[in-house]
Amino acid sequence: MAEQVATNVHWHEGFVTREERKACMKQTGGTIWFTGLSASGKSTIATALEQVLCAQGSPVYRLDGDNIRMGLNKNLGFSAEDRAENIRRIGEVCKLFSDGGVVTLASFISPYKADRDAVRALHEDAGLPFIECYVEVPLEIAEDRDPKGLYKKARAGEIKGFTGIDDPYETPENAELVLHTGDESLEESVTRALASITERGLLS
Ligand code: ADX
Repeated sequence: MAEQVATNVHWHEGFVTREERKACMKQTGGTIWFTGLSASGKSTIATALEQVLCAQGSPVYRLDGDNIRMGLNKNLGFSAEDRAENIRRIGEVCKLFSDGGVVTLASFISPYKADRDAVRALHEDAGLPFIECYVEVPLEIAEDRDPKGLYKKARAGEIKGFTGIDDPYETPENAELVLHTGDESLEESVTRALASITERGLLS
């Protein structure tokens, strides 16, 4: 948990209530957090879901691990501490987008349960919807897909601390949604994610 470093700072409350923002955005918003191994399908599902939501007129934004690591989090690597900080910052960004009434799609390996739970708590404490979606795939299938050739490099010892190879992935135990991308089609996964977002009131 990051410590508050700055002193003499004061929360400045606005005038727009959450209800007024909902009316303005025509939806509640919230975060759907995709977690899973590299090449599990997180980003593929999120990009397809983003397209569907956008086409139906729902304000939506996607935050992706690789992309965020080229900007906001370009100063972070893959040690446990850096991964925790990566997820903490993104969790805060998701909270802001959600508070703004946007459906926020986050796809990050986020291998540690404690980091994911902290993001969940951040949303729940603020009264914002949060859906943890475990994008489950057997390691062999992810390794077989290997779209970026990273598993091959990790097996060859050219990447150290690669999730699933020589770095842990802690399986979610209480995810609201589990998508099995080894067995179900992209269309099925997107349909199930959309149903979860709808059921949990993010679009209402
Ligand atoms: S996380 O663990 O901190 O959540 P994040 O989702 O941001 O990771 O970034 C993962 C992406 O970084 C992977 O999809 C992969 O392309 C790349 N990557 C590079 N090195 C590693 C590594 N050691 N472990 C996992 N992913 C890595």
